[in-house]
Amino acid sequence: MSRLIVVSNRVAKSDATSKGSEGGLAVGVMAAMEKDGGIWFGWSGKIDNRNEEPKTETRGNIEYVTINLRQSEYNQYYKGYANSVLWPLFHQRPELMRYRDIDLSGYLQANQKFADELLKIIQPGDTIWVHDYHLIPLGKMLREAGIKNPIGFFLHTPFPSLDLLRTVPGYTKTLKDLMRYDLVGFQTEGDHMGFCMGIAQGLGGEILKNDKLRLGSLHCTSRVYPISVETSVLNGAAHAGMHTDEYRRLHSSLGDRSLIIGVDRLDYSKGLVQRCQAYDKLLGQNQEFIRNVVYLQISPTSRGDVQAYGDLAKRIDSEVGHIIGTYADFDWMPMRYLNRGFRRRTILAMYNLARVGLVTPLKDGMNLVAKEYVAAQNPEDPGVLVLSELAGAADELDSAVIINPYDVCATTGALAQALKMPLNERIDRWRKMMDVLENHDIHAWQSKFLGDLQQVTSSAVS
Ligand code: F6P
Repeated sequence: MSRLIVVSNRVAKSDATSKGSEGGLAVGVMAAMEKDGGIWFGWSGKIDNRNEEPKTETRGNIEYVTINLRQSEYNQYYKGYANSVLWPLFHQRPELMRYRDIDLSGYLQANQKFADELLKIIQPGDTIWVHDYHLIPLGKMLREAGIKNPIGFFLHTPFPSLDLLRTVPGYTKTLKDLMRYDLVGFQTEGDHMGFCMGIAQGLGGEILKNDKLRLGSLHCTSRVYPISVETSVLNGAAHAGMHTDEYRRLHSSLGDRSLIIGVDRLDYSKGLVQRCQAYDKLLGQNQEFIRNVVYLQISPTSRGDVQAYGDLAKRIDSEVGHIIGTYADFDWMPMRYLNRGFRRRTILAMYNLARVGLVTPLKDGMNLVAKEYVAAQNPEDPGVLVLSELAGAADELDSAVIINPYDVCATTGALAQALKMPLNERIDRWRKMMDVLENHDIHAWQSKFLGDLQQVTSSAVS
């Protein structure tokens, strides 16, 4: 029987068990897999130095196979090379990169551990779909072990230009490893071009017809597949979330005030410092918003043991403290800042309640919060999305109020514009964005990628 095996570092379970801190990959892949099912292989999220067998658990039509990481694997692979080298580099922050040879070795060893466990599962006819920067070398390792099945790779983060990529020691290996997949997918045309230029200009490979690339004897196809959301169910889920205690309490605490919402992992790529500064200016320059708006920023702690994340957390504490100290009154808090997650339906209901969705990353692969905010709106009274032009989502959601997140004054202006926007303009902008999401949802993303993977592998055989 032909099965789909999805492989990612992080796996998601279900809304019922979620603590609400999963990022885009877990949420997006979960929605895609729930429909047709398959095996989802990845890290259990646990650190354990015993050599335990993988744990298998079936929920709905997804069979989860998860492995623990040893402390050294967590330190070198996850915290080290993946999140202290590839993540900052792919998000255009080379100054935050902390490269150590030992982390690169640990990254390769952890990929080999994933490969060794997968070899026990893979059967002829299976399709293997690897996700994200944690597992770039995995395809090569599976090929070297003799796996002939179709293997695709999708990168959820941005991919850098060649100039930036060159700052990573061993970057040529990253490019060559990607060439071992049959199909390599990116979120945007910019990311795809970065990869093609890396192969052509960086390694002397060739860009051929039909999105094919050649590097010596290696061939692969590379295309753009913007990830999306489960558009048709999000509005219903938002309504279900309105029955939760958290939503009711938020709703009644607001009174007539307009809600601005931001929901982001506490990550330096999300532009949270600049966002706080923009809100500070909004209150400082516009007396009309004093006491009339509330900004709710939900930011679950993420990768808190990586130094750059600890530094960011302190910086945001100070920005938020400044806003509250400057503008709060004994009966009004201008900002509410929470370092924890909520169940997805509660978050969706909060999106529905918010007059403004503030999504201002300094760099982001796609940003599914932007898409979910749009899909959760009330069609008769939608809120306004303020969106960074540096998020992949801006390529499609160009009817949002688009800002450059480094331009704090422009973000302040966009917030004021959004808060005052007349109903007809809100509906008009929302409808255009919703059309995009209705025409291209998460299921279209999955079937396009997997359809192309079948097509490129069968044409290579024939
Ligand atoms: O592609 C980025 C990603 O893998 C997304 O799932 C999410 O934005 C984030 O990284 C999750 O990070 P972590 O698995 O380290 O919590």
